[in-house]
Amino acid sequence: MLSRRSFFKTAGLGAAVAATASFPTEFFSWAEPQRATQPGGPILLNSNENAYGPFPSVLALKNPFQDANRYPDRVYDALIERIADLHKVKADHVTLGCGSTEILKLAASAFTGPGRKLVMASPTFEAIGFYAQATKAEVVKIPLASSYAHQLTQMAQAVGKDGGLIYICNPNNPTASLTPRRSLENFIRELPSNTYVLMDEAYHDFVPVSADYISFLQTPVNDDRVIVARTFSKIYGMAGLRLGYAVTSAQNTKTLAAHKLEDSTNILALRAGMTSLDHDDEHKAAVQRNGFDRDEFMHQGASRKLQVIPSWTNFVMFNTQRPIRTVIDHFKKSNIRIGRPFPPMDTFARISLGKPDEMKAFWQAWDRL
Ligand SMILES: Cc1ncc(COP(=O)(O)O)c(C=O)c1O
Repeated sequence: MLSRRSFFKTAGLGAAVAATASFPTEFFSWAEPQRATQPGGPILLNSNENAYGPFPSVLALKNPFQDANRYPDRVYDALIERIADLHKVKADHVTLGCGSTEILKLAASAFTGPGRKLVMASPTFEAIGFYAQATKAEVVKIPLASSYAHQLTQMAQAVGKDGGLIYICNPNNPTASLTPRRSLENFIRELPSNTYVLMDEAYHDFVPVSADYISFLQTPVNDDRVIVARTFSKIYGMAGLRLGYAVTSAQNTKTLAAHKLEDSTNILALRAGMTSLDHDDEHKAAVQRNGFDRDEFMHQGASRKLQVIPSWTNFVMFNTQRPIRTVIDHFKKSNIRIGRPFPPMDTFARISLGKPDEMKAFWQAWDRL
């Protein structure tokens, strides 16, 4: 089976785009030697990856393969403890996954099935819909509101008497938008006991301080129906290593474990995850750098009078006012990959923030369009 990313990957290689950054380079210097793309390969603004790579402390790990001949139990347990400490929960509330995609799959397997629906937004991150379909669950998609927030009342109503799972992606992929915390709390309070909520906080770290956003790990609602998913793929730049986790009640953790592949997280990813969590300074720098890149995108978009959806993430969506396929093809000719179409937003482009020189190439290509 093709992976989600390969499936949507567009073929073709061309010349590298030479562009010089007009940004304060010292701000980015620690990550400059790391390029996400091969020389001459495409500029990848299509998968919401972190263009700068893993934290410097991870890249500096001495001999990370030292015990790759051993099963990862010891590092696995240590990372569970570390994450439990971080979120002030007991270790039996934490599940590690091969990326947060595994968490999504586990939740679909555990909490949906014949007669137990999965309710999700449209458009949103789609993977869980496919996993729920595989359990023979009915998948119900509720369009986002005009503010691009989840329509929570409609989502709650759609579950029906047999319950199931509601998937909330906050901030949402692909729209980069928020669903306000207060409305989420009211919604959870009203849900029937047979309905679970998967709160996908993949982009949590990129959200600036806002009255509308508090993570459900930072301030939990003390409700056993809530499962929170996080990933090391975004702020920590570890998408290729595959590491994510869930925090939920001890009972749900047990339920998820029954569906889990033993040792689905490898020792390199575990060690890199542990090291990342030990470096708050690098986390802070990565958050700042993303804020800088996002502000610059907004500035460039505004100077071209583009309708950009306010972004709370490391990617941005805007209305190109053209059929998105033609926009994607145009960028492909410039050796730049942008996000795929997200129906029904058929004129919107999703752009993952790249490094300054990559974004400069992006804007040059946009101006040619
Ligand atoms: C909202 C959301 N959740 C989960 C994932 C999966 O991330 P991973 O499996 O790399 O942790 C992604 C990836 O793009 C995403 O956008």
